[in-house]
Amino acid sequence: MPWQRGPMTSLPDGDLGALLEYLQERRNFDFRGYKRPSLTRRIAKRMQAVGVEDYQSYRDFLEANPGEFAELFNTILINVTKLLRDPEAWEVLAKEAVAEIAQRKGPDEPIRIWSAGCASGEEAYSLAVLFAEALGEDRFRRTTKIYATDADSDALLDARQGRYRERDLVEALGVERTARFFEVEDGHGTFRGDLRRALIFGRHDLVQDPPISRIDLLVCRNTLMYFTADVQVRVLASFHFALNPGGYLFLGKAEALVTRTNLFEVVDLRTRVFRKDGALARSAWAAPVPRPLVRPRPADTPPGDAADAMAFEQSPVAQFVVGIDGTLVRASRAARRIFSIGSASLGRHVRELDLLYQATELRAALERCLRDLRPVAVGGLSWPVAEQVSTFDAFLAPLEAEAGVLVVLVDVTRYRHLQDDLEQSQRELETAYEEVQSTVEELETTNEELQSTNEELETTNEELHSTNEELETMNEELQSTNEELETSNNELRERSAEVVELNKFLGAVLGGLRSAVVVLGREMDVRAWNRQAEDLWGLRSDEVIGHHFLNLDIGFPVEKVRPAIRRCLAGAGESEHIELTVPAINRRGRAVSCVVRATGLDGDGVPGGVILTMDASPRAETPGMPEASETPAGENGAGAPVVPGPADEAGGRPGDGEAGG
Ligand SMILES: C[S@@+](CC[C@H](N)C(=O)[O-])C[C@H]1O[C@@H](n2cnc3c(N)ncnc32)[C@H](O)[C@@H]1O
Repeated sequence: MPWQRGPMTSLPDGDLGALLEYLQERRNFDFRGYKRPSLTRRIAKRMQAVGVEDYQSYRDFLEANPGEFAELFNTILINVTKLLRDPEAWEVLAKEAVAEIAQRKGPDEPIRIWSAGCASGEEAYSLAVLFAEALGEDRFRRTTKIYATDADSDALLDARQGRYRERDLVEALGVERTARFFEVEDGHGTFRGDLRRALIFGRHDLVQDPPISRIDLLVCRNTLMYFTADVQVRVLASFHFALNPGGYLFLGKAEALVTRTNLFEVVDLRTRVFRKDGALARSAWAAPVPRPLVRPRPADTPPGDAADAMAFEQSPVAQFVVGIDGTLVRASRAARRIFSIGSASLGRHVRELDLLYQATELRAALERCLRDLRPVAVGGLSWPVAEQVSTFDAFLAPLEAEAGVLVVLVDVTRYRHLQDDLEQSQRELETAYEEVQSTVEELETTNEELQSTNEELETTNEELHSTNEELETMNEELQSTNEELETSNNELRERSAEVVELNKFLGAVLGGLRSAVVVLGREMDVRAWNRQAEDLWGLRSDEVIGHHFLNLDIGFPVEKVRPAIRRCLAGAGESEHIELTVPAINRRGRAVSCVVRATGLDGDGVPGGVILTMDASPRAETPGMPEASETPAGENGAGAPVVPGPADEAGGRPGDGEAGG
């Protein structure tokens, strides 16, 4: 069996070799038989992606990040593929191979197909479509098995799904075939379940694993070209082993090494369809031996007429007759010249003829012919003749009546030289052909890499496109939010202006009152403090606004009005009006009697705060005077507020009245 396990090429020196050996050891992937330029390019791509600069560091990186193995293998194992890729070639395959197999095989005879290097499965499903059409679905289901293998397990996961974009299916198969073989939904088609059972997907490494056997059609496209020439030859030998006699081999358009292996016959070279023929080219020496031109008479028979004798003697072809006892009976002129035979040699045993006897191959052939009395042909015998080496083809034929053996020597020196030249040219041609072939494969490999990069770029482009669309949507949303904000801002500005206006108005109203006015919030925090309050208590409004009223350190005994304030704050709905008179000390340190009116503020049905108005009048220090007295609102009793009169106004501000009097 031609298949052998083990490394296919000798290890290269250097770090790359060590890295490849490491991959083989750790993940059982043998990349040593892959063409170096493409392989190093792919590894370099990963190294660049992870940001390492040499193979040793990359090995360390793999050791520390096992997830990188999958990334590396995905990069090396280029999975570019398509349904019915190169449609022309598939047409030839359908016509030459699929139809022939369908016709040759009996209706129930199994048909075994192998798609090696199937990537994401498009090739295997393409085969299924062709065979289902050629055999009919019923026979296909009963007889056909398609083994689809690849070294890349991730690609096989996709392949097993058998799900492809509808637009790719229609582009490759057409509408009718797509509808017939695929169940289409949401822009994707899945291969029909009943036919899908004919396909078996599995991981198989062409370099390391034994081939699948008894195959009628082996498809291995655009995969061999990644391997070095010697690995390709070995894989091809294993394909030869795998195929049944007469089985077909379908390769990729760049792969032509097969034509030089002699293992397969060409069915269609352009589309790379081959067939295992089993019969190798026949050796020239296996061809039927030509009959001698002269049919000599037996030695004891008189030589016949003179013309016969002359023809034998003068023939440009050297010939001689050896009797059954091994003696030289006759030798033509040319033979005598070649073997330096004189007339004295006639009748002597050939053993005694030095030159003749030294031509060992001829001697052995003569002995065989004399022994077996059957024709013998020997090619490419060389002797020195006239100081140069000549080459002869020898034909030995037994003579009738056991009269001996006729030996004819044809001088083929000229042809031999021509043949040498031809072989040399052929070798040169082969070298050139190999170079061209390797360039073609290299180009095709690069092409596939480009295609794969292109696909990656397309994906990135699509992602960018969709990110762009998202950004544009966000931009529009932001724009609209911005417009809303601007509107709110304008409204806010208008409201602020209104508030400022209102504040001014309120300030003017409060300032215009003759009484000192203090407005408290629900928490007794000071909300408003008019100019008269400033004058009376000596604190500016910015010193008190926001402060708790009861914490104010002024001449007014704030504690005394606390119950009144609380009552106002507690009054629900209806506003309270409480008036009381308290003794106080104004900002000038004079004792005053201060009439305070507390009025509850209505804050939408709940108490919203308290308004305190205060009017101070000079107070005589009377020992029996009550500390604070409450007067019902509206009554103006003993504690009634003293409204600063014109005299006060003349003398100064409210609260200064006493000083003025
Ligand atoms: C470019 S794709 C060809 C796909 C398909 N045959 C076609 O022509 O459309 C090459 C495939 O060969 C596979 N491959 C590479 N080395 C392999 C190996 N040693 N054994 C099996 N498959 C291999 C890769 O995984 C990849 O899926």
